[in-house]
Amino acid sequence: MTRITYHKPVLLNEAIHYLVTDPHGTYVDGTLGGGGHSAHIMDKLSDRGRLFGMDQDDEAIRHATERFAGESRIRFIRGNFGYMDVLLPEETSGSAAGILLDLGVSSHQLEEPGRGFSFQKDGPLDMRMGSLQGTTAANIINEYGYEQLRDLFFEYGEERESARIARAIIRDRPLETTGKLRDTVARVVPERFLNKSLARIFQALRIAVNNEMSMLKRVLEKGTWMLREKGRFVVITYHSLEDRLCKNYFRYGNFEGKPVKDFYGNEISPLRVLNKKVITPSKSEVAANPRARSAKLRAAEKQSDEDVTAKGKNRVSSGKNGDGP
Ligand SMILES: C[S@@+](CC[C@H](N)C(=O)[O-])C[C@H]1O[C@@H](n2cnc3c(N)ncnc32)[C@H](O)[C@@H]1O
Repeated sequence: MTRITYHKPVLLNEAIHYLVTDPHGTYVDGTLGGGGHSAHIMDKLSDRGRLFGMDQDDEAIRHATERFAGESRIRFIRGNFGYMDVLLPEETSGSAAGILLDLGVSSHQLEEPGRGFSFQKDGPLDMRMGSLQGTTAANIINEYGYEQLRDLFFEYGEERESARIARAIIRDRPLETTGKLRDTVARVVPERFLNKSLARIFQALRIAVNNEMSMLKRVLEKGTWMLREKGRFVVITYHSLEDRLCKNYFRYGNFEGKPVKDFYGNEISPLRVLNKKVITPSKSEVAANPRARSAKLRAAEKQSDEDVTAKGKNRVSSGKNGDGP
């Protein structure tokens, strides 16, 4: 095993507890990273169990290939989890026992100045998680118009000073490095708010560069389709935008959070939420791993067709709905 400190897995026991229900099942870790969660999934699997470890980052795949050398139950797939329905072998469709997503960037990506993810290290404004993506953060910073930048920082960063920051960027560009972007933001945001604003601006850029919201929506839909009945979906999110999508999809089967009802007036959804209250890390986990600070875990189970239709029948047989056939 090499470089064990690549990334410390967040909410590890909780994630594995909800995810692995069948030691002989086929699982997908859509965000392999340093392989922290994957290693614990493997510990729970029998000789017949299988794990697909996906990541769009070449370096993560390279690291995991070394870490799990000689382990035949795991297969690595380089690519975006949003396309897992086409990247995984066809027989996985409808038969996956569990899918895990631990969103965002790994500590390794964050600490590598050349990737441009951190405002605390000077490096190129890149932020691409996968080498196949075209747009970099520098493209966005130097090519977007004022309104596009302002809206991006507001929508994906929830940054209140988005207008002032966008104006300052337009005035100072071209900006090619994280250090230069930091200096520009520092000119318009008071010192005591600076780190929080920078975190929000960098988050917004990363989301846009990696098309994160669309890919999350796609994987929630396609992943649900790939699960077998009673298969588990476990997602760890790190900011409110991704948590909201996940919460709505698990609860309602859509991203807007609109209840969908059957003929009998029962709410129907492809998934059943397993933890009514979102799971967050303990104080001791956050103290040991500050990256866990904003983590939220949600887990859901795929419903069978019978589960969904049984609700309607129960309503009829219990006499609560006199209009049914
Ligand atoms: C927080 S880390 C995962 C850490 C991992 N759970 C561990 O314990 O080592 C997130 C990883 O997911 C990858 N990733 C993020 N979004 C992705 C996507 N849409 N498709 C594939 N990989 C993605 C990143 O490249 C990164 O390596």
